[in-house]
Amino acid sequence: MKVAGTVRVPGDKSISHRALMLAALTRGGEGGGRCELTGLLTGEDVKSTARVLRRMGAVVSTVRDGVVVTVRGGRLSRPGGSLDCGNSGTTARLTLGLLAGQRFPARLTGDASLRRRPMRRVTEPLRAMGAHIEEEGGDTLPLRIRGGRLTPLDYTSPVASAQVKSALLFAGLTGGVPVTVREPYRSRDHTERLFVHLGLQLRVDDTAVSFVPSDRRSAIPPFRLVVPGDISSAAFLVAAAVLADGGELLLENVGVNPTRTGFLVVLERMGARVARLNLSESGGEAVADLLVRPARLVGTEVAAAEIPTLVDEVPVLAVLASRARGETVFRDVGELRVKESNRLELIAANLRTLGGAAEARGNDLYVAGTPAPPRGRVDTAGDHRLAMAFAVLGTVPGGAVRLSERASVAISYPGFFSDLRRIQATGNRQRVT
Ligand code: S3P
Repeated sequence: MKVAGTVRVPGDKSISHRALMLAALTRGGEGGGRCELTGLLTGEDVKSTARVLRRMGAVVSTVRDGVVVTVRGGRLSRPGGSLDCGNSGTTARLTLGLLAGQRFPARLTGDASLRRRPMRRVTEPLRAMGAHIEEEGGDTLPLRIRGGRLTPLDYTSPVASAQVKSALLFAGLTGGVPVTVREPYRSRDHTERLFVHLGLQLRVDDTAVSFVPSDRRSAIPPFRLVVPGDISSAAFLVAAAVLADGGELLLENVGVNPTRTGFLVVLERMGARVARLNLSESGGEAVADLLVRPARLVGTEVAAAEIPTLVDEVPVLAVLASRARGETVFRDVGELRVKESNRLELIAANLRTLGGAAEARGNDLYVAGTPAPPRGRVDTAGDHRLAMAFAVLGTVPGGAVRLSERASVAISYPGFFSDLRRIQATGNRQRVT
């Protein structure tokens, strides 16, 4: 296929969650105490966060395309029923952090996928701070939490996880206590950037981050924020453009925070060039337009230290690796087993189903490139990023990829299929059904 066009991808999911949560904690200030969030993602995960915050008394306007979302924060209050986090791990884990410093009880639950995901990585350090947390069935949701008087925390996380780090920083914020989090590798730093942007006290020292509360607890005045486009969503269209056999694609207003751009770094190593144009800044985050052209790819090794910077892009990078010359290995990607699905096994199994060679060995993922057209039916397991990655693979010449479902893209990129269609110059589209 040939690629063409200009696309604005939806707002960054990670920043959207954090912006909503911090907005719900604001008090007083000018303009009637109202926060204004522009460019917020309208995917299901962000709607889950909005719903959970409304249940605790925050006034959040409807999250829909093209409107500025307003939030009137204040003191959160005991929810009437369970807090349903839907499919969203970020909603569940960050909300646990928010609740650790509140005095009321709450019960958190989610959909079948979320109810399989580990929560002790967050609940153990929150308990160490003094939060009371009851499990109903082990290391998973549903959970009951009652926050309270917290004590300071200095915690070394065994996993490089922005969700763990952010939950603990939120607990420090709502509980009014100092928190230091150390991680093996630096994970995405949107929480840190937002804290600094909002005037909260934060020290970052390589892989350690420390929050120091101010005298006035939760003293965040109402704010305005413009959310950049999500590089994790842009990655799918970048990949489709790289796999095309002509043309070019412009993606406007994409967040290029260095803790998120590992996908572009690895892609360069594989032989593709993505130009960053019109660099600017918004709310403490770097933003650029991305110009992409097709490229011939070669296999590479993706090191463990790089994984946190591209953790959500492994499915689409694996798809690209399956079209590259030679082998690609992703080191230490065991975390992919506990994402929205068991991505590690499903990436490998689906690539094999389509005629490729891929295998998980221990915690490493090996993918061998092949020139044969991918044909067959993919099991997405209801995982949005698997659906989008394999839809992209279906665009290569001669490809015929059927997806077990397509609806899951609504989690992070509701308009994905129409954007994917739009960038394929008419007359040469491949079939993705
Ligand atoms: C996220 C962090 C990552 C990522 C997820 C969003 C966040 O998870 O996979 O999609 O917004 O903090 P981990 O922190 O568990 O790696």
